[in-house]
Amino acid sequence: MHTSKSLISTVVLRTVAGLLMAPFFMMATVIAAQPSAVAFDAATKVFRIDGEGVSYVFGVNPRGELQQLYWGGRLAATDAFPQARPMPEWASFDSPYSNTPQEYAGWGAGLFMEPALKVTFADGNRDLVLHYDSHTVRPDGVDVVLKDIQRKIYVTLHYTMEPHSGILARSATIENREAQPVTVEQAAAAAWALPPSHYTLNYLTGRWAGEWTLTQEAVKTGARVIESRRGSTGHRANPWFAIQAGESNEDQGDVWFGALAWSGSWRITVEQDQLDAVRVTGGFNPFDFGYVLHPGEKLETPVFYGGYAANGLGGASRKLHRFEIDHILPHRQDQKNAPKPRPVIYNSWEATEFRVDEAGQMALAEKAAALGVDRFVMDDGWFGQRKDDHAGLGDWYVNQQKFPHGLKPLIDKVHSLGMDFGLWVEPEMVNPDSDLYRKHPDWVLNFPGRPRSEQRNQLVLNLARADVRDYVLGFLDKLLTENDIAFLKWDYNRNWSEPGWDQLPPAEQKKVYVEFTRNLYSILAELQRKHPKVELESCSGGGGRVDLGILRYADEVWPSDNTDPFDRLTQQDGFTYAYTPQVMMAWVTDSPHWLNKRSSSLSYRMLSSMQGSLGIGANIAKWNDEETATAKRLIAAYHAVQPTIVQGDLYRLISPRNDSEFSATQTVSHDKSQSVVFAFIHSTQEGRTFPRLKLKGLDPAQQYALSPIEGKALAGTPQVASGAWWMNHGLDMDEGFRGDFQAAAFRLDRK
Ligand code: DGJ
Repeated sequence: MHTSKSLISTVVLRTVAGLLMAPFFMMATVIAAQPSAVAFDAATKVFRIDGEGVSYVFGVNPRGELQQLYWGGRLAATDAFPQARPMPEWASFDSPYSNTPQEYAGWGAGLFMEPALKVTFADGNRDLVLHYDSHTVRPDGVDVVLKDIQRKIYVTLHYTMEPHSGILARSATIENREAQPVTVEQAAAAAWALPPSHYTLNYLTGRWAGEWTLTQEAVKTGARVIESRRGSTGHRANPWFAIQAGESNEDQGDVWFGALAWSGSWRITVEQDQLDAVRVTGGFNPFDFGYVLHPGEKLETPVFYGGYAANGLGGASRKLHRFEIDHILPHRQDQKNAPKPRPVIYNSWEATEFRVDEAGQMALAEKAAALGVDRFVMDDGWFGQRKDDHAGLGDWYVNQQKFPHGLKPLIDKVHSLGMDFGLWVEPEMVNPDSDLYRKHPDWVLNFPGRPRSEQRNQLVLNLARADVRDYVLGFLDKLLTENDIAFLKWDYNRNWSEPGWDQLPPAEQKKVYVEFTRNLYSILAELQRKHPKVELESCSGGGGRVDLGILRYADEVWPSDNTDPFDRLTQQDGFTYAYTPQVMMAWVTDSPHWLNKRSSSLSYRMLSSMQGSLGIGANIAKWNDEETATAKRLIAAYHAVQPTIVQGDLYRLISPRNDSEFSATQTVSHDKSQSVVFAFIHSTQEGRTFPRLKLKGLDPAQQYALSPIEGKALAGTPQVASGAWWMNHGLDMDEGFRGDFQAAAFRLDRK
């Protein structure tokens, strides 16, 4: 490792593990032959990071600013960059400082674009101009230190590229080496830049029971802000974006994408600047933000991951899925190479709501085991004085009326049926009607003397406090130590209000936005260390806390409380633009559905849920023999192909968006030995036939056998044909595949 202002170095990487193979080669002779490389050319002051299919280039311009030069498809080793040139002044109204796509611009010197960093010094000065200071090349990336032109504010920019996906992790460490405190008012993790062109922005929006709407719009002059001011990730928008160039579509064209690994308030700003270039800046949400750095203190930003794909939105999401599985999700002791496909779960919520008790849960467990379920999860209602949502949160002892002998008899029963046991918790919340609140009313987020707004009759514990953090960690550790629990469903059912933290001096209280989330992560990390086999689901009234930050600890997420199988098709479609089906839990619930009152067949409901990680959430105590047999058959069929569905390459063949009559997806295992196809009809109109499905991602030269999981192919469809046949000719559905809410599924196995 070398730190220098003038070092010429190229560090070449061989594997994900970042084995150092051949340091100090000249950039031009080595980069093209290797999957990944980091280089700094001292003559031109250009940094270049290469991964498979991707190059990222930036440099120090003569003014001393760190300027982005290129982000896109992999360049040849012989392609050299001259020193960065700042953009010109645009008349007298836009300065080079504002026009130049800086890697991390301080607010000062007349910056009108979104700043990466904005501070106020103790003497009232708010001008911050960051220039290159030094750098350190690491085997898998580079750290570049910037410093204010006069004051001792240092910012270290961290760049780490995962060589196989070319996904770049960027973050910043801000350090105050002044003698007085400095207040950070805005701190991004990174700013990404794209040259002037026609672009389409994709982002995910929603609300409770309506998450994961893919929103697409032209990037125009001005700024599009996607954010959460809620203290957590939120349902309203998700910290992910994808920008398509020109004619790019699902399968073709340039796409740049990014995802922020942060579960607190966040903001991503997509701006087209005055010279038509585009910048994407993301990190802590600056709204109500203020982080005081005392002399010698540092602030670490979250990581903003960014990637590039040449093959459309589909290519971008396949890269992201693989990256999440290989590099974000927990890799547990018994899951050495990749997270295992999720157990098929049963969850009690929709069947019993708060009315859980020993006899009822045991009866459900028996039915679940008979279906072939792997894990039984008891949801809300088992603790404190919890009869409904008015009481009990905070009192994490077992309710004696419902479970007179504790949880052990139920857990033993679940184990005797061949399943493992999971339990619901909502650790960050408290009902005012609870022993915990009566004892510690000061533990909630609040401004003293002001009202405390309740939502779902609950308040948010101030997890930023050390005593609250210790309490939460303590009860969870005890619960997991005393009971044989394999899985926690970690829920979070409201957003913040009155986010005061009156233990701190007034000027420092806004730190709560950072420290709350950091403490959440530290609790999760500590639980992971102490109970390494216990798996976790991140739930926040559905999909309110899904992001790459929480996914470092969560093995799966609950995408939505809306389990309507038709609505789920669109939600799942949106979800998969950013997140892998591996983490996408999907329960089969009762019909008619409680939300939309829509009726659908069990087979339709099963196939809708089988596109992700399957769960059963219906009141199975009421299922008849036929329903039980259908579910059992389809769970067995799902188990047989689950790795391909949840960890294979996903192709969204026909989108269910925009009131589409039809939809279809296909997944292909990485070795191309298996593929699974799902097809859905919303409502056949004017007798239309289901479109022929031209499959993707198969090996054209290999033979694949088609077998139905549910439904039939058109009479005469070959049972075995080449990958070329399935991809060029395609798969036709049976003529009888018509009607409302119909579903079919097929598997193809290489011969
Ligand atoms: C909200 C979750 O999303 C539901 O699945 C369920 O766990 C309830 N909370 C329980 O209160």
